[in-house]
Amino acid sequence: MRKKLLLFLLLSSGILLSSFSIKKDLKMINNDSTKDSTDVKVDSLLTIMTLEEKVGQMNQYNGFWDVTGPSPEGGNAEKKYDDLRKGRVGSMLTVRGTDQVRAVQKIVVEESRLGIPLIIGFDVIHGYKTLSPIPLAEAASWDLEAIKKSASVAAAEAAASGINWTFAPMVDISRDPRWGRVMEGAGEDPFLGSAIARARVRGFQGDDLSAVNTIAATAKHFAAYGFAEAGREYNKADIGTVTLHNIVLPPFKAAEEAGVKTFMNGFNELNGIPVTGNEFLLRDILKEKWNFEGFVISDWASIGEMVTHGYAKDMAHAAEIAVKAGVDMDMESSSYVDELVELVKAGHVDEALVDDAVRRILRVKFELGLFDNPYKYCDPEREKTVIGRKENQQAVLDIAKKSIVLLKNENNLLPLKKTGQKIAVIGPLADDNNSVLGSWRIASEDNSGISILEGLKQYSGNELLFEKGAELLTKKPTFINELEFNTTDKSGFEKAITVAKNSDVVILVLGEHGFQSGEGRSRTALDLPGVQQELMEKIYEANKNVILVLNNGRPLVLNWASENIPAIVEAWHLGTQTGNAVAQVLYGDYNPSGKLPMTFPRSVGQIPIYYNHKNTGRPVDPQPGDNMVFWSHYIDEESSPLYPFGFGLSYTSFNYSNLKVENSFAVNEEVKVSVELSNTGDYDGKEVVQLYIRDLFAKVVRPVRELKGFQLVELKKGESKTVNFSLTEKELGYYDQNGDFIVEPGDFEIFVGTNSNASLKTTFSLQQ
Ligand code: NOJ
Repeated sequence: MRKKLLLFLLLSSGILLSSFSIKKDLKMINNDSTKDSTDVKVDSLLTIMTLEEKVGQMNQYNGFWDVTGPSPEGGNAEKKYDDLRKGRVGSMLTVRGTDQVRAVQKIVVEESRLGIPLIIGFDVIHGYKTLSPIPLAEAASWDLEAIKKSASVAAAEAAASGINWTFAPMVDISRDPRWGRVMEGAGEDPFLGSAIARARVRGFQGDDLSAVNTIAATAKHFAAYGFAEAGREYNKADIGTVTLHNIVLPPFKAAEEAGVKTFMNGFNELNGIPVTGNEFLLRDILKEKWNFEGFVISDWASIGEMVTHGYAKDMAHAAEIAVKAGVDMDMESSSYVDELVELVKAGHVDEALVDDAVRRILRVKFELGLFDNPYKYCDPEREKTVIGRKENQQAVLDIAKKSIVLLKNENNLLPLKKTGQKIAVIGPLADDNNSVLGSWRIASEDNSGISILEGLKQYSGNELLFEKGAELLTKKPTFINELEFNTTDKSGFEKAITVAKNSDVVILVLGEHGFQSGEGRSRTALDLPGVQQELMEKIYEANKNVILVLNNGRPLVLNWASENIPAIVEAWHLGTQTGNAVAQVLYGDYNPSGKLPMTFPRSVGQIPIYYNHKNTGRPVDPQPGDNMVFWSHYIDEESSPLYPFGFGLSYTSFNYSNLKVENSFAVNEEVKVSVELSNTGDYDGKEVVQLYIRDLFAKVVRPVRELKGFQLVELKKGESKTVNFSLTEKELGYYDQNGDFIVEPGDFEIFVGTNSNASLKTTFSLQQ
């Protein structure tokens, strides 16, 4: 009844309503306690909006600084201010800090006709100012609670700085470490990727989106961006429906089920159609099949880029394609704000599509509580107390330790003794407190990380001798510019070699610069850049007790190191607390428990290489005396990876035994599996117990192994425990070539163990 009354009032007042009275109506909509559902409020608001104002909600502009994409010519600042005042902007990105956000929000709230608050987006990828490890590193922890916590710390800091929406998590599965953005995802596996997607969404959004320490999350980049051909950034993806449904889509679905508020498109085309204009993905799957109720944002200028792809003839056509496909908000190509009103008026686009998009956007704004108080994220006092506080530092240190993967530890060189040792610390990254922060760290302060050298100094009474050995780069790096590597200057080698000779142990810190991975950072070689390989070989000649600590944003090719260097620690880019985390692991204060979320190849030529591959009709398994040529293999390299998915050592050792499962189950029954895990070494430790299945015969060929369960188990030395898993239809079924989920009766193998090569095996069958 009240709704009808409001509508009558609005209609009868027509377009002559003054801005003041409209803002009053808006307040009434928001405060009307009889309208308890957000949908009713949204619908009421929609009735008082002009077409121009609706389209304005679908427009997002970048702030006038801190560009994370190609800058629009001249920045267009004047037009943007004007559009803000006219209600032609629904969101801003990369504006940050309570002052700045308040300033921009004030323009809209006070000067635009309806005063609909902006939603403020930002790339809060692995922390805001206090940085967690890069997402790929966090995935190596397999610790869902710690990952969730890390996202919630990031959300709290960003929200304290005026932001209420993050463009994370990136849930793109990728099998190609040449692609620089693997650092931003959870690796190659859809099961692990889905679990992490859920954890991150819950961490960012919390239980109450309207709280002042939670923000809306984004599942991106929908879809298949991680399959960029040859790992070259922004390249097309060509994948079949089986891979799309079983590998690419599951983490997106998991994010949707966890309640993620927004989705973002990719830049790529998929099988000939840019995903920004892909009706099949956005309407058929996301909005219809999955019933997603949030909104979809394009990627930076990706609507306009459909013209460059050769899919839209001009900007108006691109806007038409995108809105029809289901993109609700345009990031920075101005295509909606410039074209959509005309498109509707000319009858090319149904206004109902615009209404649907605006409804979705407004709903999220209501849920965030922006209509109650547009400045709720703009409290400078909170900004001061929340950002960088002690508990945030503790949380990122916790996940940083857990993200470290021990790749090799010959003769138990690690952990190091805390006293009585002369330790050489060598390498261009050893004292670097900027690179350790990793890529995607727009809001953090330069050099705000704890370097590995600084960390080591705090954790022992050993004598530390530092020599850089060589520079990695010739110029100060920035997020935006190309990096220049030092490939010639070896003048520091000699001093480093002398120090190595005079030490008991060498800690050699090598790898990629923090800005060497991330968007636009594809590589063709996956070696240690610059003169680092040579430095490593020279140091090893001088002292065999080398502990190689790697800093990198992607799997690298490490054959020489893996053959020669006795201890290798994968320390990625671990964020603000890097040095403390590495020191705690090297000194054994934390026993490493990380496991690789992505396969490490022996050669770039093996890529894409991943554990859940297909068998082929001729798998590599030659027996002595067999014909050695006509097998699926390479003639110049092994087919197996250097380090498989799920691999990671501990200072202690674990034994797996007694793997049990009943022989057969009905298709809809729960399959219960148990295994005995014992800590057989000298240290307390944690193990990620991994369960893989193989569906031996199916209508669609299934992979040789698929991760379907994992548990993080903590055991004191000498302790044993039974670990239980349960598999349901969800784990045992798969998507066929039509995208239909099916569970087939038949025989399955189960493997449980310490990585994707687990050899402990049993079988069971599913009966109709
Ligand atoms: C482009 C990136 O692909 C996307 O992930 C990011 O969120 C936007 N730029 C905004 O910075």
